[in-house]
Amino acid sequence: MSKLAPSILSADFSQLGTEIEKIEQAGADYIHIDVMDGMFVPSISFGMPIIKSIRNKSKCVFDVHLMIESPDRYLRDFKEAGADLITVHAETCTHLDRTVTAIREMGLKAGVALNPATPLSILEYILEKIDMVLIMSVNPGFGGQSFLPYSLKKIQELKQIILNRGLNVDIQVDGGVNLLNAKEILEAGADILVAGTAVFSGDSISNVERFKEIMENLR
Ligand code: DX5
Ligand code: ZN
Repeated sequence: MSKLAPSILSADFSQLGTEIEKIEQAGADYIHIDVMDGMFVPSISFGMPIIKSIRNKSKCVFDVHLMIESPDRYLRDFKEAGADLITVHAETCTHLDRTVTAIREMGLKAGVALNPATPLSILEYILEKIDMVLIMSVNPGFGGQSFLPYSLKKIQELKQIILNRGLNVDIQVDGGVNLLNAKEILEAGADILVAGTAVFSGDSISNVERFKEIMENLR
């Protein structure tokens, strides 16, 4: 079944521990952790100390989405902070093969994220070596933006490539995902939905439950 990865970027940081416990109990599969450096993306979010401080609040997969330049510099630090899965942007890695190899050699899962305008062809030689592709369905940098409709075609095309090659690579979709468009994104081929605003605005417990219900109905 597909999975839900609430993005804590939209959570109330003053209550982060409680927010995480709530979504986990409601059925969240991953905790999506958006790290922004103010260089690759305009905004700055948070880094290792925050991740470390919430690690013992949750047994969920810590899914760390690095929106930072030259992520190689910090891979070990993020592992030590508690990451289970590290996703790097193809646009930030001069030596993408080296970076994903380094992530896997630390015993973690490796994901590669693509900005909306970055073509799937960049994955041609790396797809066999990774666990997940993150399709950005907004330009990264902020929560609360609208889903770019052409992302659906990109998800469908990637799904076909993965199936044709017989690979076990998850497709994660991030940006503007909500309860109204979740079904068509899943039908296009997404395995993991990231949702920030759609989980944390209003009642996060019932929002998670409603996402899970949509996923359950598509099984
Ligand atoms: C955007 C981040 C997303 C963001 C999603 O740069 O990578 O994970 O938190 O937020 P929503 O779901 O509000 O679009
Ligand atoms: Zn993200």
